[in-house]
Amino acid sequence: MKILVTGGLGFIGSHTTVELQNKGYEVIIIDDLSNSTEKVLDGIVAITGKRPIFEKMDLKDRSKVEDFFKRHQDVVGVIHFAASKAVGESVEKPLLYYENNIGTLVYLLKELSKKNKSSFIFSSSCTVYGQADKMPITESAPVKTAESPYGNTKQMGEEIIRDTCMVTPGINAIALRYFNPMGAHPSAEIGELPIGVPQNLVPFITQTGMGIREQLSVFGGDYPTEDGTCIRDYIHVVDLAKAHVVALERLLNGKNQDNYEVFNVGTGKGSSVLEVIKSFEKVSGKKLNYKIVDRRPGDITSAYADTTKANKVLGWKAESTLDEAMKSAWLWEEKIRK
Ligand code: UD1
Repeated sequence: MKILVTGGLGFIGSHTTVELQNKGYEVIIIDDLSNSTEKVLDGIVAITGKRPIFEKMDLKDRSKVEDFFKRHQDVVGVIHFAASKAVGESVEKPLLYYENNIGTLVYLLKELSKKNKSSFIFSSSCTVYGQADKMPITESAPVKTAESPYGNTKQMGEEIIRDTCMVTPGINAIALRYFNPMGAHPSAEIGELPIGVPQNLVPFITQTGMGIREQLSVFGGDYPTEDGTCIRDYIHVVDLAKAHVVALERLLNGKNQDNYEVFNVGTGKGSSVLEVIKSFEKVSGKKLNYKIVDRRPGDITSAYADTTKANKVLGWKAESTLDEAMKSAWLWEEKIRK
């Protein structure tokens, strides 16, 4: 069965392509290489022994999207990762984010509505909950006003899919609300490749451990948490990738109860920034140079998932521990710096 993976050369997209190929799916990747490279294909081949079809394409070009679906009428499912994801940049360039993240989603859904039946998985984020009132966060927690255009594109994306599904019974869709993905494939053949200075915690830690960055700034030590630093739910990217395959199969096998569903994808366990640093020191055997500084504007105190719905309904559960995920992130960092 043919599956289109947009953004398939990116961090989560490449790991999902591996899991799909491991289960025998034929994957076609569309990627514009704006935040990835074609070399990622070699990593995928090294792990799975199979080279996915790759088309370099900008999904903002509607005629190309139309042409793609004409050429590949046998695509039965789409996993849509392709999007811009830098929060700060989205504040500076809102229209770029709305065009990249919303425009492309609309074009894909337009093509899918021409088909009798299709399955669609959307990359959403726990950012839709903002600072939730209760922990752990369930899917019924209210969606809060977005803090950034990036966050808004995830909320709007979900609404666009929901509204489309309401009038298009042929489209079956699932939005996966990711918590904090980290780590790399245990083979260290693929992983996260941040361009420039990493914005996210884990690549900043591994780069500091490698000596590329001098010091990690821990943003805030006075939060109302046990050790004063923020709490997040860090999920191993391989567990996250597997959640996509399980969600897709739920749709392909017609097991979904509704033609639009939403699931949290996290571990259910919250870890503080200091706990993440400790995990790094444990698995790498290195002392990390860090300093507690002022809070980062826009950060929330705490976010971790209630995963009951994903566990029971999807039959999926995150398996890796924080240390295992950290070990894989460190192996990958060591490999790319060699
Ligand atoms: C961030 C985005 C979020 C997005 C997610 C996608 C912000 C404010 N939020 O989430 O919208 O969906 O990435 O990956 O950008 N930290 C440090 N020092 C650092 C980097 C991070 O102390 O150099 C801390 C942060 O304060 C936070 C935790 O580490 O407590 C995780 O940060 P990060 O990896 O940026 O993820 P989020 O802020 O959860």
